[in-house]
Amino acid sequence: MGEHKLLLEHAHDPSYGTLDGYLAKGGYQGLKRALAMPRQEVIDHVKASGLRGRGGAGFPTWIKWNGIEKEKKAAHHFILCNADEGEPGTFKDKQLMEETPFLLIEGMTIAGHATLGDTGYIYIRGEFVDAARALRNAIDEAYAAGYLGKNILGSGLDFDLHLHLGAGSYECGEESALMSSLMGERGMPRLKFPHAPLPTVAGLWDLPTVINNVETYCCAPFILDRGGEWYATLGASTKNSRGTKIFSVSGHVNKPGNYEIEFGTTLNELLEMSGGMKGGKLKACVPGGSSVPIIDADACGKAIIGYEEMGEVGSMVGSGGCMFLNEHTCIVKFIWRTALFYANESCGKCTPCREGTKWMLQVLERIVQGHGQPGDVQVLKDICEQIDGRSFCGLGDAAAWPVAGALKVFPEEFEYYIANGRSMVDTELGREMVPA
Ligand SMILES: Cc1cc2nc3c(=O)[nH]c(=O)nc-3n(C[C@H](O)[C@H](O)[C@H](O)COP(=O)(O)O)c2cc1C
Ligand code: SF4
Repeated sequence: MGEHKLLLEHAHDPSYGTLDGYLAKGGYQGLKRALAMPRQEVIDHVKASGLRGRGGAGFPTWIKWNGIEKEKKAAHHFILCNADEGEPGTFKDKQLMEETPFLLIEGMTIAGHATLGDTGYIYIRGEFVDAARALRNAIDEAYAAGYLGKNILGSGLDFDLHLHLGAGSYECGEESALMSSLMGERGMPRLKFPHAPLPTVAGLWDLPTVINNVETYCCAPFILDRGGEWYATLGASTKNSRGTKIFSVSGHVNKPGNYEIEFGTTLNELLEMSGGMKGGKLKACVPGGSSVPIIDADACGKAIIGYEEMGEVGSMVGSGGCMFLNEHTCIVKFIWRTALFYANESCGKCTPCREGTKWMLQVLERIVQGHGQPGDVQVLKDICEQIDGRSFCGLGDAAAWPVAGALKVFPEEFEYYIANGRSMVDTELGREMVPA
């Protein structure tokens, strides 16, 4: 338990971003082993590993890979990487792409072999210029050395990889909107299963597509190199979370940054790794990116990092964007700022999210300006209920959960603000944040 550097072991070594350096540190052993196996055996290793998607939802990776038809009847099978990383507080994929680009390329090539994929796309947030450069160089090197392109390492596998820069929209991280954007359409979500086929059946250009997060693909080389069963020994103390997870720690801590921990580590241990609290005692934590519910210090003390275990204290692992907040943080202002982000990012396609996020923002804004009205807490709760589970895609839920969570855990802060026209935690920085 505790810190366990697997993906990040060589992250700070600049040579790891070159093919020679990567090979010297054991790179491409996973792909070599995978290519020597029948496709189904690769998927069996991923199944045995217990790997779950690191993009937020924690969906078992092997089920996706196994969902692709075993015979290639379509013109292409696509391997798509979600490198949009828009969730506030999350910055792990950026570091992986900048410092360990070959891990991602190798992982996607392994997925290509397992699912008959012939073409890969990395859909990367356009602002990630350094990450895009590192990937561009790594892709070129991999082509030149026969690790991408035709007949990879003489195995008969053909796999091409393209880099696509997005324009920076949170909604384009939602997988169906990402596919629309990649195909040149507006970045809006599409109907999903059970009302439409799964991406593994009809994804990009209606052809079979596997879509995973950067960190998910980066786990595959280790799983194939050391075996699925070995990987599953990591995190074995938890109910159903295996391996390591990178947490991007920010907020009031002394050493913010990315920390790779083994599942089963406690949230307190993660806080210690991050140098402990800065500027005051721990008040609250948003453990998995801005969309997951906030928890108080008491729940933090009990929290074990695992998909099910985090649920037991009222929150989620999410994308691993972990924000620790000290006692001088005004929760009302923090949530207002979060709501502002979601209202801006709502794509406008469905009514509950388009109207609800703006309305929620209006109410929160009048509260932080000191003009809250009696009954505003109930209004906010009602809006959350009308958005959550009733929106066309997950952005609606992501907008409602932080507000609903804060109202549940810190109701007195909202009531105080409304009754007194000012925050319970009135700091100078907090006053600057409030809109005029
Ligand atoms: C609004 C919204 C934004 C999302 N943004 C991202 C993102 O930036 N990166 C990501 O990997 N997944 C994101 N997701 C989750 C993806 O839709 C999808 O579940 C994920 O890419 C699947 O990969 P995984 O199984 O490896 O986690 C987002 C989901 C929603 C609803
Ligand atoms: S929930 Fe609706 S409005 Fe919000 S981003 Fe998704 S489709 Fe667009």
